[in-house]
Amino acid sequence: MDIIYQEERRIFHLYNDEISYLMMVLPNGHLGQLYFGKRIGVEKDYSYLLEMMPRAMSSYVFDDEKMFSLAHVRQEYGVYGSTDFRSPAIEILQGNGSRISDFRFQDFSITHGKPELSGLPATYTEAPEEGMTLTVFLEDEVTHIRLELLYTIFETGALARSAKIVNDGEGPVHLLTAMSLCMDLPDSDYEWVQLSGAWARERHVKVRKLEQGIQAVDSMRGHSSHEHNPFIALKRPAADEFQGEAIGFSLVYSGNFLAQAQVDTHDTTRILMGIHPSWFDWKLDAGESFQTPEAVMVYSTEGLNGMSRIFHKLYGKRLARGYWRDRARPVLLNNWEATYFDFTKERLIEIAKKAKECGVELFVLDDGWFGQRGHERAGLGDWVANPERLADGIEGLAEEIEGLGMQFGLWFEPEMVNKDSDLYREHPDWIIETPERHSSHGRFQYVLDFSRKEVVDKIYEMMEKILGGAKVSYVKWDMNRSITECYSSALPADRQGEVFHRYILGVYDLYDRLTSRFPKVLFESCASGGGRFDPGILYYAPQGWASDDSDAVERLKIQYGTSFCYPVSSIGSHVSMAPNHQVYRNTPLHTRANVAYFGTFGYELDLNKLSDREQEQVKEQIRFMKKYREVLQFGDFYRLKSPFDGNVTAWMVVNEKRTLALVGWYRVLCGVNMPFTRIKLQGLKDEYRYEIAGREGWYFGNELMNLGLITTDYASGEGAEGELYKGDFDSGIFVLAAKGMEQ
Ligand code: DGJ
Repeated sequence: MDIIYQEERRIFHLYNDEISYLMMVLPNGHLGQLYFGKRIGVEKDYSYLLEMMPRAMSSYVFDDEKMFSLAHVRQEYGVYGSTDFRSPAIEILQGNGSRISDFRFQDFSITHGKPELSGLPATYTEAPEEGMTLTVFLEDEVTHIRLELLYTIFETGALARSAKIVNDGEGPVHLLTAMSLCMDLPDSDYEWVQLSGAWARERHVKVRKLEQGIQAVDSMRGHSSHEHNPFIALKRPAADEFQGEAIGFSLVYSGNFLAQAQVDTHDTTRILMGIHPSWFDWKLDAGESFQTPEAVMVYSTEGLNGMSRIFHKLYGKRLARGYWRDRARPVLLNNWEATYFDFTKERLIEIAKKAKECGVELFVLDDGWFGQRGHERAGLGDWVANPERLADGIEGLAEEIEGLGMQFGLWFEPEMVNKDSDLYREHPDWIIETPERHSSHGRFQYVLDFSRKEVVDKIYEMMEKILGGAKVSYVKWDMNRSITECYSSALPADRQGEVFHRYILGVYDLYDRLTSRFPKVLFESCASGGGRFDPGILYYAPQGWASDDSDAVERLKIQYGTSFCYPVSSIGSHVSMAPNHQVYRNTPLHTRANVAYFGTFGYELDLNKLSDREQEQVKEQIRFMKKYREVLQFGDFYRLKSPFDGNVTAWMVVNEKRTLALVGWYRVLCGVNMPFTRIKLQGLKDEYRYEIAGREGWYFGNELMNLGLITTDYASGEGAEGELYKGDFDSGIFVLAAKGMEQ
């Protein structure tokens, strides 16, 4: 890995064994993009990649020629209005009303490792040799605004980028757009991949051909959203899960975002990713600076799986942090779908006792334990246990749960308040609302103005008291509504465009304070399920409740899509009741567990309600998870068959030594007289001999990867005797262990 600068040509080459990233200072001093892709030779003059030609209806930069137009060169941080007409990476409103800027190369620095981004989540290095950072300094001579473009190349196919804007001028300016990433690709022969959906069907994979014009996903909800994840990928039309070029773009941010591809008239593709420019207006006073969130780009020639594995490694090990990053996660039971708001302490203990008997390690008390929270209209903001429900407070309950031999976890929704709460009665001006306008509610709750430090301080104080005073080992941090009528009564008129971003900075600040104060507490993020499942939050909470939809069949799509960018260790996945509470489907217990194993694993039900036989099954499931969770959560994950393409889904994990693999196989609808079936596996060692639990004999790794694992079962015949389960929603886990080798 290295970063070199060819002075005479003014070319930067960032490279490692996998990728090359080439940039060039353009004739007008702007930074241009030459190449991003598979590693190419280093000692070479690549300036020929700057192609120029006079073109009709173009505008040109230099007075004496008809050649150099910003519209026709590929750039690194494009500006609008001075010969380029595409969407810009930066737009600055200046004192005289102008929005033109002209950032010219000044200098650069190269360092080992990676600097922190103050107040923002970001990937990191643990040793200087894990990454190298290039900072390119540019300046607009009229306003004296400096632009610092940061690029960190890691050992893999990943590159992290961000921008810092420093006002060295004399007066304030308004930043109207400041993207994290802008990059122009030389052609548009790609398919665009996005992870989109809605509440309870998050991160479904959607693919379409890139076309001339703009295609985008975004959020204007104040959180990254259920609707669109801050992730996109471009893949060549012939690329698939296993081979071909795929480029992933991911934003390490949890607020309003825009991810856009703009294909211009000459088939150049501009990718922009960053804070959504709409409703963004950051006043930058003289002497101040603004740091954009980070965006991560990943390049792979091993298709979408290859791209995902690079993200998994980076996000699992160098974005997630802390005590729990590398630790297998406890098997938990959450009482939400077991009781909703309707619980007493006795009921909780009854549920917890059965959970303990079955092997559960962590009991989580969800919504309803605080203030007057007997329903969704009251209590949010009052983070004090309700004495009518919990006479000995959280302290007493936690003590009792610990006494049973389990850890105790607790639900919070720190950013919200109900009007029927002591906090609101005391501080009615602390919510986000616009003067003289109606304030819309979401689930009868209002959003606290986390752009204000005193608000974050107060919530911290209440949470710190609970967490510090009781044996709480886990926190579920929920967030159940989007922001409307966005406005902060603490900010002047010309800073109202800062509220959305300041709000998220406040959320990060609270996360930071709590995780620093309680470093061993496991934080799980949640936002009505997966409404803020993004890399920004992953920096603070190493796992997130992936969706409120806990149905096993629905979860196939959700977890498959989530795995495009996020590691298995981050995906909160539980077994819930049948019929399922969201889609009313009856799926067999083994299938619910077989899906949930590929995540953090837990239960979302009252195990007392299961039959004796089912309880025995649960005990076995938990034993299984405890035995294999290391490889399930931290092994290499491969998607094998997509739920978006057919009736069967399959995926697998393999440990680092390639001696242990678990394959999950799921069939939605059963058939009869079906074809013989097999699945080609991935990631095994060619020459290892794998034994498959429950089957005779052994199989070479290359046998299983090339001719496949036979999955034919009763559905291919007339039916077989003695099967435990036959019918729709069936599934199986195949455990493969290399013969004679240590697992
Ligand atoms: C939404 C979450 O996603 C659920 O798991 C549960 O915690 C409820 N909120 C509680 O109100």
